[in-house]
Amino acid sequence: MIAEPPITSIVTTGDGSLTLRSTRYGETYRSDRGAVGEARQVFLEASGIGARLQAGLACRVLEIGFGVGTTALVTADVACSAGTALELVSIENDPVSVSQLGECQHGGWIEHSPLLENLIQQWPTEPVSRVMLKLSESPAIQVELRFEDVCHVALPTDHFDAVYLDGFSHACNPEPWSVPVLARLRDALVPGGSLVTYSSRGQLQRDLRGVGFDVERLIGPAGKRETLRARRAG
Ligand SMILES: C[S@@+](CC[C@H](N)C(=O)[O-])C[C@H]1O[C@@H](n2cnc3c(N)ncnc32)[C@H](O)[C@@H]1O
Repeated sequence: MIAEPPITSIVTTGDGSLTLRSTRYGETYRSDRGAVGEARQVFLEASGIGARLQAGLACRVLEIGFGVGTTALVTADVACSAGTALELVSIENDPVSVSQLGECQHGGWIEHSPLLENLIQQWPTEPVSRVMLKLSESPAIQVELRFEDVCHVALPTDHFDAVYLDGFSHACNPEPWSVPVLARLRDALVPGGSLVTYSSRGQLQRDLRGVGFDVERLIGPAGKRETLRARRAG
């Protein structure tokens, strides 16, 4: 069995959706002001992936931090509704257990609840380094989980249309925000592709510019003044 991260509590967030609090990091997996709302606004909409999927344009997304799957599920849900191809690769070095995954009850927040049922059914119970999930009947929806540290994972270059950068906060989880990781995430994007994140730290903005992104600040969801969208410049 995969050891469960030490998560003590389920949290009802501001929009009624649920997330978990990690006692290891002292933070919730998604915003306590609205977990599903944050996933939609900060990642799906700000990256342009939601609009692209709805317009029938196939998308490739890289997520750093699968967590309890909120953001991945809302993304796959839009791809299913639109009938558009989606390749989503998510990197996670400390996966939750299948029971922790089920506690968030995301099935009630998406149009295609079998996505969650299939995720739960196919969630590995033994340690594996990666798993390809069949969350939908459509072969065009591909979700790959890679149980690795983002600092060491091998990534393709010029491949993804968007990166969802979604570690816990820099104060308790600095690794996903480090300059070498940002540089590799830039290379993993196609030119013009977007990295989006809920953080708007000044140092992060400087580091993103330093590795070759054009950075924009966006209006944040409830409880967050600003978030970031960084486009790969060239
Ligand atoms: C804010 S949560 C992600 C929430 C998730 N996207 C969701 O929608 O539920 C941060 C996640 O990043 C993962 N993480 C932290 N450091 C990591 C690293 N170095 N490599 C891969 N994953 C990491 C944590 O285990 C946690 O699941």
